[in-house]
Amino acid sequence: MATIRSVVRGNGAYLPERVLTNKELAAMVDTSDEWIKQRTGIEERHIAADGETTSMLGLKAAELALENAGLKPADIDLIVCATSTPDYTFPSTATQIQAGLGITHGAAFDLQAVCTGFVYGVATADKFLTSGSHKRALVIGAETFSRILDWNDRTTCVLFGDGAGAIVLEAQLGEGTPQDRGVLTSHLRSDGSHREKLYVSGGPGSSKTTGVLKMEGREVYRHAVSMVTDVIHDAFKTTRTTADDIDWFVPHQANKRIIDATAEKLGIAPEKVVLTVNKHGNTSAASIPLALGEARADGRIKEGDLVMIEAMGGGFTWGAALIRW
Ligand code: UT7
Repeated sequence: MATIRSVVRGNGAYLPERVLTNKELAAMVDTSDEWIKQRTGIEERHIAADGETTSMLGLKAAELALENAGLKPADIDLIVCATSTPDYTFPSTATQIQAGLGITHGAAFDLQAVCTGFVYGVATADKFLTSGSHKRALVIGAETFSRILDWNDRTTCVLFGDGAGAIVLEAQLGEGTPQDRGVLTSHLRSDGSHREKLYVSGGPGSSKTTGVLKMEGREVYRHAVSMVTDVIHDAFKTTRTTADDIDWFVPHQANKRIIDATAEKLGIAPEKVVLTVNKHGNTSAASIPLALGEARADGRIKEGDLVMIEAMGGGFTWGAALIRW
């Protein structure tokens, strides 16, 4: 049956220039290159320059995605920006990106699901496009987590980085089968009872401050693998596909050990896993589109490939989406 699908037209990724190495961090807090690499797989991360905001990173990624798609800003009628580090409490980062693109039509809004933000963004834009209300969406994940870190806390400051990535989704007619290009299914979950395990200690409504990131790393780790495998199984079931059918597994890039354990539990071959956490650390909502950017740029992900994206993070939130590129 003819069905509207949200098809990926293009993608873009942007990392700020400044690279912060594990060695440099070891000079700031009681840590070591060995510990960080062994426990997380992270080798370096990028840090936004003074005055370089989340919307500036997001705008660069959005412009690259439009160029890659062969589209102009005027072709976009929906901008969803997933971020937990907005430029301002309001207006939204998405509207700042919209202004940067020079368009005044359509709708732009932020979406806050922390590290699962990009998966939530893809699922949300997909609902807009498949309902027929909008035609082309920019889904952006953009973060400056360096601004909400306690740089004296070695248990968190070594883990995160800044960056942005974007994709352009376009409503196109498919046949309603898993062979269609586009978002085939998405599954979102949350459980707010886990707030204390991963949160930021401030906000306009509580302390009138920005606050800093606090995490019980081991507790988050303990939940991560089972939560994401759960939603991925839902995605397989809905589309009647299996781990063997996927061409690329593009997980949230938080920790190589979590990614390896998830892929192993799902029976996904290691050569299908796209891993970029070593180069940019955990960039929250930006990590999946950054990984997609690398795997597209080096020719791994090709048109027609089946790509599973997944993430888990603060809230807790978690989710997965299966996309035929
Ligand atoms: O993106 C949102 C989701 N977030 C995540 O997915 C993060 C999930 N958690 C993790 O990735 C891991 O739990 C961490 C990387 C945060 C930590 O790894 P771990 O293997 O769980 O280590 P741990 O917290 O159990 O700490 C082991 C030891 C502790 O020392 P003791 O108590 O064994 O003496 C820590 O104090 O490592 C110590 N430690 C460090 N040592 C050197 C903690 N941070 C550091 C550090 N450098 N930066």
